[in-house]
Amino acid sequence: MREILVTGGAGYIGSHVVRALEARGFAPVIYDNLSTGFRDFVRGFELVQGSIGDYETLCALFREREIACVMNFASFIAVGESVELPLRYYENNVSRTVTLLRAMLDSGVKRFIFSSSAAVYGEPEIVPIPEDARLCPTSPYGRTKHFVEEILRDLDVSSEFRSVSLRYFNAAGAHPSGEIGESHVPETHLIPLVMRAAMDESYRIKVFGTDYDTRDGTCVRDYIHVNDLADAHVLALEKLLEEDRTLAYNLGNGSGFTVREVIESVRRVTGRAIGQIDAPRRPGDPASLIASSDRAVKELGWKPRYAELDSIVETAWRWESRRLRKGY
Ligand code: UFG
Repeated sequence: MREILVTGGAGYIGSHVVRALEARGFAPVIYDNLSTGFRDFVRGFELVQGSIGDYETLCALFREREIACVMNFASFIAVGESVELPLRYYENNVSRTVTLLRAMLDSGVKRFIFSSSAAVYGEPEIVPIPEDARLCPTSPYGRTKHFVEEILRDLDVSSEFRSVSLRYFNAAGAHPSGEIGESHVPETHLIPLVMRAAMDESYRIKVFGTDYDTRDGTCVRDYIHVNDLADAHVLALEKLLEEDRTLAYNLGNGSGFTVREVIESVRRVTGRAIGQIDAPRRPGDPASLIASSDRAVKELGWKPRYAELDSIVETAWRWESRRLRKGY
């Protein structure tokens, strides 16, 4: 069985991808320092505890194993925090990622799947956004992803290193089993916080910015189910192993929802009232991000299964109800 090193595999997206890899006959080896991931998310899978900035540990692992490809989910992800603490983002998402890439190159591991982001586009000129749109990030977070994509293109020219960058739009929802799902400490993402407001009458969700040039003045995002993202990773991996080319794909549903529409969806699905309060814009947030995923559909044969926002929110609600009992 082909072994795939999944850095950050005990986190939200990584843990869903690990299950998709196993279902498709790959052998995922999880590499995570558990700084934001959860051991419980990967019970029953092989877990090596370590940091992507630890060159020696990575080289030792590459020597001992036959790793066909590395998938890198070990990344900081909060746009707002990256504006306040840019060096934290450049250090982890760029410097440590470079160490990981160096360990791979020095060990002869030449295939890489990179978790990139819609944040590389900044304020888009064309919507839905195609992959060849201008990359002009508006946050340090988005710049870290852009920089790594550039590094990967340089490696493609300088060596036999090949990679696929997957530009996620807004990952959302949870595994239908309810066993794993979104959990960040502190939580900054919209859907989990709206769920919090559904569960706790005293908590009100802040709506960041109500004067954007959108249909109701709040930001528009393209929410894509985490299992659909996971499927795309396996398809991208199979293409990379077969065709040996450096590529980039958008992963989104192609439809955008405003913050108020997300709140309304959670109200419909949960049947509960949601407390909300208007707040100033959050620095770094583009007004609208909607994907064109035509390339992934055409070239990878990707077919997202969760097209409706309510069906995504339903899986998130099942997870939220369960995780409170489990204490994540
Ligand atoms: N929002 C609120 N109130 C909150 C939290 C969020 O109004 O309490 C708004 C944000 O301003 C934004 C939208 O809800 O307009 C979505 O915000 P999230 O924090 O859930 O997600 P982001 O769009 O900021 O970022 C997410 C990932 C990034 C990824 C990006 C791609 O965290 O890693 O999606 O679009 F790059």
